[in-house]
Amino acid sequence: MILLGCKYPTLFLFPHDYHWEEGNIMDITRIFLDREFQIGTVDPRLFGGFLEHIGRAVYEGVYEPQSKLADENGFRQDVIGSLKKLLFTAMRYPGGNFASGYHWLDGVGPRTFRPVMQELASLSIESNQFGTDEFIQLARKMNWLPMIAVNLGTGTPEEARNWVEYCNGPVGTKFSNLRAGNGSAEPYGVKIWGLGNEMDGPWQQGHVPASQYAIRAQQAAKLMKDTDNSIELVVCGSAEIGLPTYMEWDRTVLEYVGDYADYISLHRYVGNTTSDTADYLAVTNSIDQQIEVTDGLCRYTQARIRSRKRYYLAFDEWNVWYRTQNAESVNGHGKIAQHLVEEEYNLEDALVVAGFLNSFIRHADVVKIANLAQIVNVIAPILTRGDQMLLQSIYYPLVLYAQRRAGAALQTIVKGPGYESKNYGFVHTIDASAILGEGVLHNFLINRSITDAATVEISPAGIQLKSVRSAEMFSGPSADACNTFDDPDTIQTQTLGNIELADQKATVRLPPLSVAAITFNIEDKE
Ligand code: AHR
Repeated sequence: MILLGCKYPTLFLFPHDYHWEEGNIMDITRIFLDREFQIGTVDPRLFGGFLEHIGRAVYEGVYEPQSKLADENGFRQDVIGSLKKLLFTAMRYPGGNFASGYHWLDGVGPRTFRPVMQELASLSIESNQFGTDEFIQLARKMNWLPMIAVNLGTGTPEEARNWVEYCNGPVGTKFSNLRAGNGSAEPYGVKIWGLGNEMDGPWQQGHVPASQYAIRAQQAAKLMKDTDNSIELVVCGSAEIGLPTYMEWDRTVLEYVGDYADYISLHRYVGNTTSDTADYLAVTNSIDQQIEVTDGLCRYTQARIRSRKRYYLAFDEWNVWYRTQNAESVNGHGKIAQHLVEEEYNLEDALVVAGFLNSFIRHADVVKIANLAQIVNVIAPILTRGDQMLLQSIYYPLVLYAQRRAGAALQTIVKGPGYESKNYGFVHTIDASAILGEGVLHNFLINRSITDAATVEISPAGIQLKSVRSAEMFSGPSADACNTFDDPDTIQTQTLGNIELADQKATVRLPPLSVAAITFNIEDKE
């Protein structure tokens, strides 16, 4: 890594209070904002999650009736207490790869009659003790917006529309009556539905070429919207940027499904596969690019099919995932609730998670839904072990952003030091995004430098900074520092002090490898 404008570092960090010795400060970074340069309203659904029937995400994750920590409905109170702080909005369910073999009728009705099934996506056993009704009950408790992915792998368009009737139909017909019989006369009102999952992936149950998936998706979409025309549909876009069908799949599908589609999905998992922290932290460039390319494809398709409809982006799986991304890690060996894909996250991963969120905010005009994959145990911010629970490093960026997300994204111009990364081109050492809310300005800053503290000056035009309402950050002793069950507090949020306000500018100091979220009280300026 070539850090431009840096002095030679000798820096000491103390993990629990984050004082650092001076002497390693990079050249100043200036951030320019203007209240008139608004990208778009930040859709609250950008801060969504994903709960899949895989490993210990559902069983031993959110749902463990036999645990002493369970509430009267079997939900683990410690887990849902910690999830509540993340204020997730849209919650995608039941998969993922699981969705492509799932028959929703197996998961409703009296639990003793629900069938135990072989689950082929993760070669496990599915007990079906948690299904649609339990998910909706949990979603209501958590204030989540349910988002259901139907089975377009081994399922049929008719089965998909029946599920819509079960969830949304007023009582009086077969499947809505079934719901009422299962305890809820009131419809569930599920607004967002996914037309399958990663159907472009050869690993997917029922994977077919784009032209065939497009027919399935269009048929299901018509039946589903005819059942409830208030729903919104997410069509499967490319699951990976590396697949040979990348973008060509998206074009074929969107052209055929046309205006039945409201959103196209994007998925992205990243990792430090070459043990190069500087390069890894620059991956945000590639996330920005993935969003822009997919948005470009949507606009292109809209023009080609002469549609007046604007298709938006649902980034409905994203996270860091590479240590446990292999066949053995998703093999449940014919057992229930195995320890599958339980990635252990470190500080650099938490910076990358913040980078994803910055990228979504910077593209608030086109990305309307995003779902962290996933929420508990499986590539998740929260891990359980018996009655214990651990908040991993990636929990903390989610907390910082969750509390500061309402408003309009502002264009964020960064001027300052940067470096040329090996794989992702030039990045500024500071990554930034900003949201203008009611009487407040939220700034999100990531210091990618491994060695140097940063001085960041924020200059907003048309906005008078009155005072700091709140300022928090996290960092850690090294890029690979982790929270563990034995030492759970290495990475946690701290108050960020010493923010100077002068001459309509704010000056902030950030330690190396840190994420900060600052909210200013503001007034309009003439
Ligand atoms: O989130 C884990 C898996 O990753 C999902 O089941 C699948 O959609 C993706 O490949």
